[in-house]
Amino acid sequence: QPPKEIKIQDRSYPADNWTNITDTIQSHVGRHLYLDENHPLAITRKLIESQFAGPVFGNYFEKDPVVSTFQNFDVLGFPADHPGRSRTDTYYANHNTVLRTHTSAHQQKYFRRINANEKERPEEVGYTVIADVYRRDAIDRSHYPVFHQMEGARLWKRPENDALSHSAETAAKINADVDLIPRHDVVVEDPNPTINENNPLQAEYHSAEEVEAIATHLKRSLERMVIKIFTEGSKAAAASSGPEPLKVRWVEAYFPFTSPSWELEVFWQGEWLEILGCGVIKQELLNNSDVPNRVGWAFGLGIERIAMLLFNIPDIRLFWSRDERFLSQFRAGEITRFTPFSKHPACYKDVSFWLPREDVYEAAAKYGRPVPNFHENDVMEVVRGVGGDLIENVSLIDDFVHPKEKRRSLCYRIQYRSLERTLINEEINELHDNIGSKLISTLGVQLRR
Ligand code: PHE
Repeated sequence: QPPKEIKIQDRSYPADNWTNITDTIQSHVGRHLYLDENHPLAITRKLIESQFAGPVFGNYFEKDPVVSTFQNFDVLGFPADHPGRSRTDTYYANHNTVLRTHTSAHQQKYFRRINANEKERPEEVGYTVIADVYRRDAIDRSHYPVFHQMEGARLWKRPENDALSHSAETAAKINADVDLIPRHDVVVEDPNPTINENNPLQAEYHSAEEVEAIATHLKRSLERMVIKIFTEGSKAAAASSGPEPLKVRWVEAYFPFTSPSWELEVFWQGEWLEILGCGVIKQELLNNSDVPNRVGWAFGLGIERIAMLLFNIPDIRLFWSRDERFLSQFRAGEITRFTPFSKHPACYKDVSFWLPREDVYEAAAKYGRPVPNFHENDVMEVVRGVGGDLIENVSLIDDFVHPKEKRRSLCYRIQYRSLERTLINEEINELHDNIGSKLISTLGVQLRR
């Protein structure tokens, strides 16, 4: 019998056939790790906030992760068929209430606040906000269904409401602010023109010179932040990872609520890593948020990503650890390299199953496209529900359709490892059996032995 309501922290929400928040997920709500001042996530938060500080920026946090689908998607211009809205990607309390999937869910609130506070604090034209965010996703060492994002935005007021005729003045004002940003000498790759086919000008609202000015201010501000935290903020990190010079690059991106949009990538130990998304805020959103006579930029970055690099933390599950051997290694205001406590052995086991038959017919009809009623994230959710933080990685190792029977078979390899102790065989066997039974009862699969 499905429950009638779902409780998150101390509030209840009516459940319906969209509800998919599990106990495991609920148990993570309310930790507010970014407020524990000696926690690496809080240390990282402070470091970034120090680059976006008062009086221009207010620094905020949002403790309640429950938002409406309107806040998380609609107001930001997500189309009705955007994959981010699906139940396989997002945790729903019910059909119109979700656990926020990004801090952008609070953009409208903070734009409105800038307008509401204009008399008392006219200089506060920007903000940062940090919060826990939730996504159904794969299981590996850099993905966890709960993580933290920081959103930031900066607005400029136009001399008059009627936008375009004053855009030259606005651009000049923004360019004057660009000149106030301290210079840096790190090489930045940025090959694409600001405005191009993929990143069109919102011509109804913005002039090209205004968008150039906003884009330049955005890029210089974020480059500076990244350079600060990866070089000066992390002498310890730099010292132990060798003299590799910092390299960053801008790549084109797409978000429903910004245009143009970019991602910033950092070259770190041989790889380009995406660390944030950003762009020029679409004017419709500002018009709908009590600030029609302002223009500006916004960014959103993943705190864990940056903290893993700064502190050399090898597994994202560690952030949730209550083990003193983890927690005692960090102190407010300091970037220190994490020393793993002895690494306990990993153990893997495979689980193979046949998907339900009708799904396979549908899939076959669509020439091998993903089976509509089956989504890998559902397997991940079952595994997470049973194994919790004892699961290090889940990967698909075999996928085939039986040529005669037209049934699809999948095999996943589940890697078990505790970060805190050595697991015993009986315990793993029991977990693995439970995962098998749960896959049968929730996804209707047939196990292959
Ligand atoms: N919310 C976006 C994400 O989670 C990031 C973003 C924030 C992009 C603000 C543009 C502006 O991917």
